[in-house]
Amino acid sequence: MEYIEKTVKNRVSFHEEIKIDFDVATEMVKAIGKKTVRNFIIDEHNVALYRDLIGYFLNKESKRYNLNKGIVISGSVGTGKTAIFNIFKIFTNVIKENTFKKATTKEIISNYVKNGFEGIEPYGYNCVGTDNINRNPMELLIDDFGYDIMNAKHFGNEVDVMGVLLEYRYDILINYNKRIHATTNFTKKELSNMFGERLESRFKEMFNYFELRGKDRRK
Ligand SMILES: Nc1ncnc2c1ncn2[C@@H]1O[C@H](COP(=O)(O)OP(=O)(O)OP(=O)(O)O)[C@@H](O)[C@H]1O
Ligand SMILES: [Mg+2]
Repeated sequence: MEYIEKTVKNRVSFHEEIKIDFDVATEMVKAIGKKTVRNFIIDEHNVALYRDLIGYFLNKESKRYNLNKGIVISGSVGTGKTAIFNIFKIFTNVIKENTFKKATTKEIISNYVKNGFEGIEPYGYNCVGTDNINRNPMELLIDDFGYDIMNAKHFGNEVDVMGVLLEYRYDILINYNKRIHATTNFTKKELSNMFGERLESRFKEMFNYFELRGKDRRK
C-alpha cells in the first residue's frame, strides 16, 4: 500500500507546473539557442517541436505529449536534434532543481566493456554497491539512440547492454518517475524492431515520439 501511495504521490507532484510565463520561457530558450548555436534559427521545421518542448519542460499538461513519458526525437542527420537537447539541458538547469544527464550509446557501451555493470550504474539506478537505499536515478538523455546496438563483452560475458539498461529504465520510470529521452536517426518502428517485443511494449509507456524534419543544418 505504501508503495502504491508513494508511486501515486510521485506522479502527482511530477505534474506540478512550473509557473513561468510561456512567452518568457520562449525568450529564454531562444536566448540560450543564440548563445550556444551559431546562426540559431527557429523556422517552419522546428517551431512546433520547440513550442511543445517548452510546454513539456515547464510541466504543462497537453494532449500533444504525456508528462509521464520521456521524449524521443527522430530525424535524419543534422536536423538539430542534439542541439535541441543541449538547449533544453541548460533551460531545465535554470528553471528546475535537476536537469537530465546526457550520454551517448557509445559511452554507455564502452563503460560496460571497461567496468561491467558497475560501469552502467550511473545511467541506471545510480547507486554505490548493491544497496537499494542508495538508489538515486537521474533523468537521462541518450544521444544517438539505436547506434552500436550490439552485445558487448566484459570478461568474456556477452550482454545486450542497451537492452538491460532499457529494462532498468522502465523500472526507474515506474518506481522513481525519472524519464529517459533520446535522439535518433531511426523511426519509431525501426527502434521497436531493434529491441524486440518486451521492450517494444515498454516503449509505449516510456516515450513520446516526435519527428524533426528539414535539411541537414551542418555547413
Ligand atoms: N535551430 C538551429 N539553427 C541553426 N543551426 C542549428 C540549429 N539546430 C542545430 N543547428 C546546427 O546544425 C548542426 C547539426 O545539429 P545537431 O548536431 O543538433 O544535429 P542532429 O540532428 O543531432 O544530427 P545527427 O543526426 O547527425 O546527430 C550543428 O552544427 C548545429 O549547431
Ligand atoms: Mg545528434
